[in-house]
Formats: sequence, C-alpha cells, structure tokens
Amino acid sequence: MDNPLSYLNYSKFMQDAIIAALNTKAFPNPKVAAVLTDNNGNIKSTGVHHGPGTNHAEMDLISKTTIEKDDILYVTLEPCFHSDTSPSCALELLNTSIQNIVIGDLDVDPRTNGKSIELFKNKGLNIQFEYNANNLINPHYVNQKINESTNTLIGKIASSQNDYIYNDQSDDKYISNNISLALTHILRASVDGIAIGKNTLLIDNPKLDVRQINIKNSNPTKIVFWGSDPNIETHLSKNSDFFFITSFNHQADNVISLLDENFEVNKLLKMLNINSLLIEGGNYLHKYFTANAIYDKFYWFKSMNDITSGIKFSDEVINSLQKNYKLINKFPLKDNHLTTYTYI
Ligand SMILES: NC(=O)c1ccc[n+]([C@@H]2O[C@H](COP(=O)([O-])OP(=O)(O)OC[C@H]3O[C@@H](n4cnc5c(N)ncnc54)[C@H](OP(=O)(O)O)[C@@H]3O)[C@@H](O)[C@H]2O)c1
Repeated sequence: MDNPLSYLNYSKFMQDAIIAALNTKAFPNPKVAAVLTDNNGNIKSTGVHHGPGTNHAEMDLISKTTIEKDDILYVTLEPCFHSDTSPSCALELLNTSIQNIVIGDLDVDPRTNGKSIELFKNKGLNIQFEYNANNLINPHYVNQKINESTNTLIGKIASSQNDYIYNDQSDDKYISNNISLALTHILRASVDGIAIGKNTLLIDNPKLDVRQINIKNSNPTKIVFWGSDPNIETHLSKNSDFFFITSFNHQADNVISLLDENFEVNKLLKMLNINSLLIEGGNYLHKYFTANAIYDKFYWFKSMNDITSGIKFSDEVINSLQKNYKLINKFPLKDNHLTTYTYI
C-alpha cells in the first residue's frame, strides 16, 4: 500500500518527516522532524527532537550533515525564531547554505509565529508550505499554546455510503478500506488516549494499538466508557490495559466511577494525564460529545458501499456536525473518502 499520508496530499519527504516525528516522545514540546534531500531527491539526513533540553529537529540535522545550496529541507513545524534552552533554529539555518525549505505549519507560539518565515523570505530563501503536518502530529499544540484549553478531543467514525456504522450481516468488523484504517492508526499515534464505548469493546474487541504504519512505541492510554452494566469482572481481567469508566463503584485499579449527570471529560483526562483524546465511539459517545460541542476535530471515513441492516449513524450527530462544525477537507481514499471537520 502507498503511504496513507500521500492521500492527505503530503509529498513523499513530508510523509517521511511526519512518520519520524510521530516516532518521538517530546512532550511538553511538540514532536518535530526535519528531512534533508539532495538535488537528486535522495534523503541526506533526518533530524528529530526528543523533548525539553535536547536539540530541536533542525539542530539535530545540522549537527549530522553538511547542507548544500541545492538541498531541500522539509520540516513539520516552522523553525523557531526565538532562542530558549536551544538556539534559534532560523538563525542557525541561515548560517548554512540552505536555500529551499518546505514547512508543515506556522508555529502558533507568539515568539515565532511567522517571524522565521518572514526572515527567510527577506534573505531570499525559497519557502513553501504543506499545511497541517504539525496539526496532524500534535493535535493538542494549538490549544496548549494559545487557547489555554486543558485538552483536545477528536472524534472519528467510519460509515457506509448510506451512513451505517455497524453491519449486523457481516463478520467483518471493518466498514472502511485499508487506507482509512492506516490513517486511523496515524490518528492514534498522534494522541495520548483513545476512548471507545462498551459495545465496541464487546462486539469489535479492538486492540486500539498503532499498527499498519511504521510507528513504534506509541502507547495511548485506552479508555472504555463502560456505563452502568454490573457485569464487569470478566471484562476487567480480559482487558486489563483499559481504564473502565463506570456509573457505579467497583474496587479495581482500572475502574474509574465518574459517569453521572455531572460527568466532565476534563476531570477524567486530568486524572489520567491525557491532553489529547481520540474518541472512536458509536452513537452514544458521539451524541454526548457533539451535544456538548467539545470536539476540536472530527474525522468521518465513508465507504462507497451500502449496508442494509445494523446501526445507522445518529441523525443528531450528523446534524450537529453540519450545524456546529466547519467542513475543512474532503480527501478521496480510493473507494473511501475522508471528510474532516473542525469546531466553528
Ligand atoms: N463504524 C464505526 O466507526 C464505529 C465505531 C465505534 C462503534 N461502532 C459501533 O457502534 C455500536 C455502538 O457502540 P458503543 O456502544 O461501543 O458506543 P456508544 O454507543 O457510543 O457507547 C455506549 C456506552 O457508553 C456508556 N455511557 C454511559 N454513560 C455515558 C456518558 N455519560 N457518556 C458516555 N458514555 C456513557 C453506555 O453505558 P450504559 O448504557 O450502561 O449507561 C454505553 O455502554 C457498536 O455496535 C459498534 O460496533 C462503530
């Protein structure tokens, strides 16, 4: 299969940079990677950032290779203008022969926010963009830096052409194709936590791990909104890597009783030290989260097939997506497509 990121319109080397960044752990800093290619389109070097106190991706790359004037640098986030615990990457890059830089996103950090790009342009460098690379890798970054929001919530659903989210006539639990699946794994690798509902655990038994793509050691915290069903004991031992969120008390390390009329997702995420959560829910969860209008982003994967019997995606959620959210992009994924939304 082609790299699934090619379907989101990223060039080959930005795809490589995104995967390299997703393979790092940098929090509270953003995951960033840089890829340098020569004039034959071969990768000369890759740089990554490993978190506070370590080299930024550009500095990591500069320390490993000599940049020549025909090289192209792909970097997932605008190089920092400011110097902090590390030097200004923009100034350090200007000390090399670099002439061509492709940037994933502007850095919303006010200390940089477009200043490096302006400086590069003033110095005559050729600057291009492949927007949404950093937003994809670090979905929490904008909230963390400018909105002072405690967390970032992302919804995801897969449906048939006629909006069914579950097919009770098929043993195959996947409604969408392998590109949709691989992109879902990229979304999983970008967050700290993933949540599903009880029936998804019981029917689909998803592993919620990151496979399909070349990303190692990504272990988002797994959460199941279990609800009120007292038959929990055998499921707890079978799924000891999940936190069960319940509306009743139960003595076990991985049970958190929080689901009542005052339920606040922020409180739960704070307890679990989660900043970004992907909700791979069914109707109940998506109704709850869209009714409370708290998704920052929503990803809807849709196949071209019709399903004749099962569960239909709730009209309430669809109406809320249309009313309260802005459609950002529609990407063809062979016989599927992906529509992305953001909260207005
Ligand atoms: N196509 C897709 O992408 C996709 C994804 C996920 C699921 N599905 C399908 O959708 C169907 C339903 O999924 P699901 O039941 O796992 O998900 P769901 O309907 O979203 O979640 C239902 C569970 O949430 C519990 N809950 C209780 N209080 C809650 C609260 N305040 N907030 C949130 N949840 C609360 C409910 O428990 P109580 O009723 O006990 O209170 C219930 O067990 C399944 O057949 C699954 O296969 C499809």
